[in-house]
Amino acid sequence: PAKKLIVTLPGDGIGPEVTAAAVAVLREVAPELSFEEHLLGGVAIDRTGDPFPQQTQDALKSADAVLLGTVGGAQNSPWNSLPRHLRPESGLLKLRKLLGVYANLRPVRVQPGLEHLSPLRPELARGVDILIVRELLGGIYFDADRKIEGSAAYNTMRYTTPEVERIAKVAFWAAEQRKGRVTSVDKANVLEVSELWRRDVTALRDRDYRSIHLNHEYVDSVAMLIVSNPSRYDVIVTENLFGDILSDLAAVIPGSLGLMPSASLGDGAGLFEPIHGSAPDIAGQGVANPAAAIMSAAMLLRHGLDMPHIAAKIDGAVSQALREKPTRDLGGTASTQEFTDAVLKALDRAAVG
Ligand code: NAD
Ligand code: IPM
Ligand code: MN
Repeated sequence: PAKKLIVTLPGDGIGPEVTAAAVAVLREVAPELSFEEHLLGGVAIDRTGDPFPQQTQDALKSADAVLLGTVGGAQNSPWNSLPRHLRPESGLLKLRKLLGVYANLRPVRVQPGLEHLSPLRPELARGVDILIVRELLGGIYFDADRKIEGSAAYNTMRYTTPEVERIAKVAFWAAEQRKGRVTSVDKANVLEVSELWRRDVTALRDRDYRSIHLNHEYVDSVAMLIVSNPSRYDVIVTENLFGDILSDLAAVIPGSLGLMPSASLGDGAGLFEPIHGSAPDIAGQGVANPAAAIMSAAMLLRHGLDMPHIAAKIDGAVSQALREKPTRDLGGTASTQEFTDAVLKALDRAAVG
């Protein structure tokens, strides 16, 4: 069979640092993969004037999977004064749209023996295993009905039944492989969009997924409960903006944004990226935690290339490295390189042992 092609988009800030770590790990465990690096985000703006250049778009056509770092600048970056459609984040949103990756899986896991990395009491952190299923191509992020006009501005949150059903199916499918529980998160006490969302998710459950236990909760309450009692959740399914916010909040549970990987899936090549941003405050210092990027590479193998066994090896090696060589965000002292070396060593040991 032809070599599988991974297009890498390191992006900005700590993106290149953590992507290099993920690629080093992939090269170690899957030498049969090939890699091609392209421009996205601020770095693409600086080189071509476009956050998502045509050359990158063309390269994606032959990709089997896409590995992304992060895009975006600091609050005071000149990129933020460009017209919105020319900013780094717009490049990322266009990329997601072009790939059609509507289902964003964001696992939140506290590995046994790593409870001490969580700021939560160990009895609260222990055993947490949540999958946030975030709708990624709809809602207020993408609706064309948006404008800023003098002293007034608006965006529109809109969802259709087919959009709700396709993301709910992913959540139910995922729950079938897990504990069989889905919490749908909305704001149905205020928003019509949530009323439709709730109705459609419930109808789908009643029609096709009767073995799933489904409940509905309000997003404000979930923001409290997810950190005060995280063990009550198995799969959470929610719309684009709520999912964005809740997943950064959930990063508190394992102990850092640097521990939150993601997989974005649609009908074609998948997109795999850590959920954190470009971390301008620590970029270029070699201290970023690459665990989220490395675990995103594991998700690439699991969900993108159907190589679940190798993915599991990577996850095991990351857990080991987190025990031995935690980075600064986790209270340790290891550099990005030292952490990555610890992952590679753990993989070696696993291969020999
Ligand atoms: P951020 O996630 O970049 O940083 C928030 C805090 O977490 C910072 O203190 C940072 O140092 C820390 N942090 C994040 N990832 C880390 C890691 N791997 N290791 C150690 N510490 C880490 O959020 P922000 O500062 O709000 O955003 C910065 C830029 O990133 C903005 O331009 C934003 O638009 C962009 N952004 C991009 C993505 C993406 O590409 N998917 C995601 C979020 C934010
Ligand atoms: C994320 C980021 C992006 C989002 C931004 C940078 C467009 O915050 O991947 O979580 O809001 O989806
Ligand atoms: Mn986010």
